[in-house]
Amino acid sequence: MKPLQVGLLGIGTVGSGTFKVLQRNQEEIRHRAGRGIEITMVADLDVARAKAVVGEGVKVVGDAREVIANPQIDIVIELIGGYGVAKTLVLEAIAAGKHVVTANKALLAVHGTEIFAAAHAKGVMVAFEAAVAGGIPIIKALREGLTANSIQWIAGIINGTTNFILSEMRDKGLDFDTVLKEAQRLGYAEADPTFDIEGVDAAHKATLMSAIAFGIPVQFDKAHVEGITKLAAQDIKYAEQLGYRIKLLGITKRSAKGIELRVHPALVPSKRLLANVEGAMNAVVVNGDAVGTTLYYGKGAGSEPTASAVIADLVDITRLHTADTEHRVPHLAFHPEAILANKG
Ligand code: HSE
Repeated sequence: MKPLQVGLLGIGTVGSGTFKVLQRNQEEIRHRAGRGIEITMVADLDVARAKAVVGEGVKVVGDAREVIANPQIDIVIELIGGYGVAKTLVLEAIAAGKHVVTANKALLAVHGTEIFAAAHAKGVMVAFEAAVAGGIPIIKALREGLTANSIQWIAGIINGTTNFILSEMRDKGLDFDTVLKEAQRLGYAEADPTFDIEGVDAAHKATLMSAIAFGIPVQFDKAHVEGITKLAAQDIKYAEQLGYRIKLLGITKRSAKGIELRVHPALVPSKRLLANVEGAMNAVVVNGDAVGTTLYYGKGAGSEPTASAVIADLVDITRLHTADTEHRVPHLAFHPEAILANKG
């Protein structure tokens, strides 16, 4: 069967990771998806940079609309970010009948209701595993693994930049601005790092988890949002002396009054697992009535961890898109070469 053709809008940190991992693991991914998945077209304002990443054989254009207009493209990956042009392009891709994969938590947390309604009306998917907690498959955990549960609460460290800043300030005594610059250099921070340090990015992600967990509309405007900019090095030190660590938590829970949704710095007892999540790592704790408390830990930002989530969505859509019913649902995919290797 002909590989599924993917058009990529924006080939920065996550886009190049996605291209590399798809190429590196293409055989395994093809076996798991039941069909090949190929990025055949890329749009980026910096055409020369994009060409340097993808090389020959992939069409690179400067105008994203050329990708959307291409009838050969089955899935569009949006990695532009922000609410402006990204929103227009996502809606245009949906209108053109393309499935969409996006890591854009800001867009979905603020305009998700409109975007999901458009996708529903058109019968296409909008998948966004990469939008929350990078490489941690938390969307799938909430939707699939925990689907039997009435979720009671979710609490997590879901912004790598702020966790990195808090960890480095505590461990190395570095100042806020120095560590923020390092987080930007490492590719953790948003284009506008205000979103990270003011808690907005974490609130976008908490909003999406809340909508999935509690079946409510995405409503970022209802979130209480407080970042780490008012914290002083002194606060971190005093917390440590009292047996606590300060962590920026995203919390959503059922309460008698409805669903709580908030992001703020919290004192976490030093012995708790969340207190020991260091650097740019993320961790999400989910409590369900049947399963009890579960924990998900991993890299919440960065090129290949986020690419891992983008590609998981590509595989999901490919399974659904493929006429071969054997591959429509997640299954144990046998990779003949792996089986041979095991025998040896
Ligand atoms: N700026 C985000 C973070 C990137 O620091 O977690 C991943 O969403």
